[in-house]
Amino acid sequence: MAPPATLTTLAQQKTLEASFVRDEDERPKVACNQFSNEIPVISLAGIDEVDGRRAEICKKIVEACEDWGIFQVIDHGVDANLISDMTRLAREFFALPPEEKLRFDMTGGKKGGFIVSSHLQGEAVQDRREIVTYFSYPLRSRDYSRWPDKPEGWIEVTKEYSDKLMGLACKLLEVLSEAMGLEKEALTKACVDMDQKVVVNYYPKCPQPDLTLGLKRHTDPGTITPLLQDQVGGLQATRDDGKTWITVQPVEEAFVVNLGDHGHHLSNGGFRNADHQAVVNSDCSRLSIATFQNPAPNATVYPLKIREGEKPVLEDPITFAEMYRRKMSKDLEVARLKKLAK
Ligand code: SIN
Ligand code: FE2
Repeated sequence: MAPPATLTTLAQQKTLEASFVRDEDERPKVACNQFSNEIPVISLAGIDEVDGRRAEICKKIVEACEDWGIFQVIDHGVDANLISDMTRLAREFFALPPEEKLRFDMTGGKKGGFIVSSHLQGEAVQDRREIVTYFSYPLRSRDYSRWPDKPEGWIEVTKEYSDKLMGLACKLLEVLSEAMGLEKEALTKACVDMDQKVVVNYYPKCPQPDLTLGLKRHTDPGTITPLLQDQVGGLQATRDDGKTWITVQPVEEAFVVNLGDHGHHLSNGGFRNADHQAVVNSDCSRLSIATFQNPAPNATVYPLKIREGEKPVLEDPITFAEMYRRKMSKDLEVARLKKLAK
């Protein structure tokens, strides 16, 4: 079945469209509003005080990365007005009529813009979300013709948001480098020239949320992903065993930070690459904004430090582009086999 033009128009339907119905083993195990506060919420106040709180913050981040690969940060220095402008304008974008959103349609491989559901072509079941995405770093990757020009003022706000998030990411990478026992520039150097891609996710309310996912289970490919979510909640993560799911408690103005595959490999597996997914609900729509901080495509992926007695998690150094290619072809193969088995 062809995907609907946009999902927003389907919000009033009473039953879920077949293309979004997931197999039983993939369906949500925990309700979207059954929140857990197990993911640490860490204040970054005093992070620059080398002889003060920095060591304490670093310790908390290490523990969270070892246990979950996810933590939340508050007192992060990103202005509250910028956060509320960004979320308000994003919601206004998704509320535009379908033909306005589809002016930025990115089906057919366009770099950036609007699309319904997942990027991954050929999957048997679709994610139930709309997204708008844009490439913001390095600066030469910015193609403003692919950044929505409505609602008015959004381009200016998204530019500022990208800059501030890049600043936050660099600060977090410094702490993570120190946490690995390396010089503070180690992770930014390993990224060569850091890429940044922003994905704004909109999950319309859904008639049968128990049967579907807004975004299926995955790990992020890059180094870290600061994620802003509204107070609706729906981000889920797994505990150590990878089987038990929890719904992350939304915290006002906090960023959830997910560690990606690149971060995991560079730490030689010491830090988890967070397995996560997004569930939807029948009462209201949800918005989240993921800022993917990735290494340059030619950056080398290999552990930065291998402790005595440890084995490297990768046989040989590979480029990030190759790591990404392998990950995507594996995901596509799994999707292809699932489709065949139906
Ligand atoms: C993501 O993983 O990119 C988004 C998750 C969410 O919407 O909470
Ligand atoms: Fe993700």
